[in-house]
Amino acid sequence: MRISPSLYGVLLAALIGLGACAMPDKSKPAMPSLYDRLGGIQAITAVVDDFVGNVGADTRINAKFATANIPRLKTRLVEQICAGAGGPCTYSGRDMRTAHAGMGITNAEFDALVEDMVKSLTKFKVPPQEQKELLGMLGPMRKDIVSR
Ligand code: HEM
Repeated sequence: MRISPSLYGVLLAALIGLGACAMPDKSKPAMPSLYDRLGGIQAITAVVDDFVGNVGADTRINAKFATANIPRLKTRLVEQICAGAGGPCTYSGRDMRTAHAGMGITNAEFDALVEDMVKSLTKFKVPPQEQKELLGMLGPMRKDIVSR
Protein backbone atom coordinates (compact mmCIF):
# COMPACT_ATOMS: atom_id res chain seq x y z
CA MET A 1 0.00 0.00 0.00
CA ARG A 2 1.22 3.49 -0.86
CA ILE A 3 0.90 6.03 1.92
CA SER A 4 0.25 9.51 0.62
CA PRO A 5 2.58 12.24 1.96
CA SER A 6 -0.32 13.97 3.73
CA LEU A 7 -1.49 10.75 5.46
CA TYR A 8 2.13 10.08 6.37
CA GLY A 9 2.25 13.52 8.02
CA VAL A 10 -0.90 12.82 10.03
CA LEU A 11 0.42 9.43 11.19
CA LEU A 12 3.75 10.95 12.16
CA ALA A 13 2.05 13.75 14.10
CA ALA A 14 -0.14 11.16 15.90
CA LEU A 15 2.91 9.10 16.88
CA ILE A 16 4.77 12.15 18.18
CA GLY A 17 1.63 13.12 20.07
CA LEU A 18 1.38 9.67 21.70
CA GLY A 19 5.06 9.79 22.59
CA ALA A 20 4.62 13.15 24.25
CA CYS A 21 1.67 11.81 26.30
CA ALA A 22 3.68 8.85 27.55
CA MET A 23 6.62 11.03 28.56
CA PRO A 24 6.72 11.99 32.22
CA ASP A 25 6.56 15.76 32.66
CA LYS A 26 9.91 16.59 34.18
CA SER A 27 9.33 20.34 34.08
CA LYS A 28 7.34 20.41 37.33
CA PRO A 29 8.49 18.06 40.13
CA ALA A 30 5.54 16.61 42.10
CA MET A 31 4.71 18.71 45.19
CA PRO A 32 5.43 16.70 48.36
CA SER A 33 2.34 16.03 50.49
CA LEU A 34 1.43 18.49 53.23
CA TYR A 35 2.31 15.65 55.63
CA ASP A 36 5.91 15.58 54.33
CA ARG A 37 6.20 19.36 54.20
CA LEU A 38 5.06 19.58 57.83
CA GLY A 39 7.92 17.24 58.73
CA GLY A 40 6.07 13.94 59.19
CA ILE A 41 4.66 12.29 62.28
CA GLN A 42 7.29 13.60 64.73
CA ALA A 43 6.75 17.23 63.79
CA ILE A 44 2.95 16.81 63.84
CA THR A 45 3.13 15.15 67.28
CA ALA A 46 5.29 18.00 68.61
CA VAL A 47 2.85 20.63 67.30
CA VAL A 48 -0.18 18.78 68.73
CA ASP A 49 1.49 18.40 72.16
CA ASP A 50 2.23 22.10 72.26
CA PHE A 51 -1.22 23.02 70.92
CA VAL A 52 -3.06 20.94 73.55
CA GLY A 53 -0.83 22.65 76.14
CA ASN A 54 -2.00 26.04 74.84
CA VAL A 55 -5.63 24.90 74.97
CA GLY A 56 -5.17 23.74 78.57
CA ALA A 57 -3.84 27.18 79.52
CA ASP A 58 -6.47 29.10 77.53
CA THR A 59 -9.12 30.30 79.98
CA ARG A 60 -11.49 31.10 77.09
CA ILE A 61 -11.93 27.38 76.39
CA ASN A 62 -10.13 25.16 78.89
CA ALA A 63 -13.22 24.53 81.04
CA LYS A 64 -14.65 22.56 78.09
CA PHE A 65 -11.72 20.13 78.38
CA ALA A 66 -12.03 19.61 82.16
CA THR A 67 -13.11 15.99 81.85
CA ALA A 68 -11.40 15.22 78.54
CA ASN A 69 -9.07 12.27 78.11
CA ILE A 70 -6.04 14.32 77.01
CA PRO A 71 -3.70 11.49 75.90
CA ARG A 72 -6.47 10.04 73.72
CA LEU A 73 -7.37 13.48 72.35
CA LYS A 74 -3.73 14.06 71.38
CA THR A 75 -3.47 10.66 69.67
CA ARG A 76 -6.61 11.34 67.68
CA LEU A 77 -5.61 14.85 66.71
CA VAL A 78 -2.28 13.52 65.43
CA GLU A 79 -4.06 10.79 63.47
CA GLN A 80 -6.57 13.26 62.07
CA ILE A 81 -3.96 15.79 60.94
CA CYS A 82 -1.62 13.10 59.61
CA ALA A 83 -4.40 11.43 57.59
CA GLY A 84 -5.84 14.73 56.35
CA ALA A 85 -2.40 15.93 55.23
CA GLY A 86 -1.85 12.83 53.11
CA GLY A 87 0.23 10.89 55.63
CA PRO A 88 0.18 7.16 56.41
CA CYS A 89 -2.33 7.31 59.30
CA THR A 90 -5.91 6.26 59.84
CA TYR A 91 -8.16 8.42 62.00
CA SER A 92 -9.71 6.15 64.65
CA GLY A 93 -11.96 8.71 66.39
CA ARG A 94 -15.55 9.75 65.99
CA ASP A 95 -16.71 12.14 63.28
CA MET A 96 -16.56 15.80 64.32
CA ARG A 97 -20.31 16.26 64.73
CA THR A 98 -20.65 13.24 67.04
CA ALA A 99 -17.45 14.01 68.99
CA HIS A 100 -18.59 17.57 69.83
CA ALA A 101 -22.33 16.96 70.19
CA GLY A 102 -23.90 18.60 73.24
CA MET A 103 -20.80 20.67 74.10
CA GLY A 104 -22.46 23.94 73.07
CA ILE A 105 -19.30 25.17 71.33
CA THR A 106 -19.51 28.76 70.03
CA ASN A 107 -17.81 30.40 67.03
CA ALA A 108 -15.68 32.43 69.46
CA GLU A 109 -14.51 29.23 71.16
CA PHE A 110 -13.71 27.69 67.80
CA ASP A 111 -11.69 30.80 66.87
CA ALA A 112 -9.85 30.65 70.21
CA LEU A 113 -8.83 27.06 69.54
CA VAL A 114 -7.63 27.92 66.03
CA GLU A 115 -5.60 30.77 67.56
CA ASP A 116 -3.98 28.30 69.95
CA MET A 117 -3.11 26.11 66.96
CA VAL A 118 -1.59 29.05 65.02
CA LYS A 119 0.56 29.89 68.07
CA SER A 120 2.03 26.38 68.01
CA LEU A 121 2.50 26.34 64.23
CA THR A 122 4.36 29.64 64.45
CA LYS A 123 6.44 28.48 67.42
CA PHE A 124 7.50 25.41 65.39
CA LYS A 125 8.28 27.61 62.38
CA VAL A 126 5.71 26.02 60.08
CA PRO A 127 5.81 28.29 56.99
CA PRO A 128 2.75 30.40 56.02
CA GLN A 129 1.79 28.19 53.05
CA GLU A 130 1.69 25.02 55.18
CA GLN A 131 -0.16 26.86 57.97
CA LYS A 132 -2.70 27.99 55.40
CA GLU A 133 -3.20 24.46 54.06
CA LEU A 134 -3.55 22.96 57.54
CA LEU A 135 -6.04 25.61 58.64
CA GLY A 136 -7.84 25.11 55.33
CA MET A 137 -8.29 21.50 56.38
CA LEU A 138 -9.69 22.40 59.83
CA GLY A 139 -11.87 25.36 58.78
CA PRO A 140 -14.65 23.34 57.11
CA MET A 141 -15.05 21.35 60.37
CA ARG A 142 -16.49 24.47 62.04
CA LYS A 143 -20.02 23.74 60.82
CA ASP A 144 -19.94 20.32 62.53
CA ILE A 145 -18.30 21.49 65.77
CA VAL A 146 -20.02 24.82 66.52
CA SER A 147 -23.54 24.29 67.87
CA ARG A 148 -24.41 27.57 69.53
C1 HEM B 1 -10.87 22.49 64.11
C2 HEM B 1 -11.26 22.39 65.35
C3 HEM B 1 -11.31 21.09 66.12
C4 HEM B 1 -10.82 19.87 65.80
C5 HEM B 1 -10.04 19.48 64.55
C6 HEM B 1 -11.14 18.98 66.88
C7 HEM B 1 -10.80 17.64 66.91
C8 HEM B 1 -11.18 16.77 67.91
C9 HEM B 1 -10.91 15.36 67.90
C10 HEM B 1 -10.15 14.61 66.83
C11 HEM B 1 -11.45 14.84 69.02
C12 HEM B 1 -11.43 13.37 69.46
C13 HEM B 1 -12.69 12.65 69.01
C14 HEM B 1 -12.74 11.25 69.51
O1 HEM B 1 -12.02 10.90 70.44
O2 HEM B 1 -13.56 10.47 69.00
C15 HEM B 1 -12.06 15.93 69.75
C16 HEM B 1 -12.67 15.82 70.96
C17 HEM B 1 -13.00 16.88 71.76
N1 HEM B 1 -13.01 18.21 71.38
FE1 HEM B 1 -12.47 18.92 69.59
N2 HEM B 1 -11.84 19.67 67.83
C18 HEM B 1 -11.95 20.96 67.41
C19 HEM B 1 -12.57 21.99 68.07
C20 HEM B 1 -12.96 21.93 69.39
C21 HEM B 1 -13.37 23.06 70.18
C22 HEM B 1 -13.50 24.51 69.65
C23 HEM B 1 -13.62 22.60 71.44
C24 HEM B 1 -14.07 23.33 72.67
C25 HEM B 1 -13.90 24.60 72.89
C26 HEM B 1 -13.37 21.16 71.43
C27 HEM B 1 -13.52 20.32 72.50
C28 HEM B 1 -13.37 18.96 72.47
C29 HEM B 1 -13.60 18.09 73.60
C30 HEM B 1 -14.01 18.54 75.01
C31 HEM B 1 -13.39 16.78 73.15
C32 HEM B 1 -13.61 15.49 73.95
C33 HEM B 1 -12.36 14.92 74.54
C34 HEM B 1 -12.69 13.65 75.30
O3 HEM B 1 -13.85 13.23 75.33
O4 HEM B 1 -11.81 13.07 75.87
N3 HEM B 1 -12.98 20.81 70.17
N4 HEM B 1 -11.88 17.10 69.04
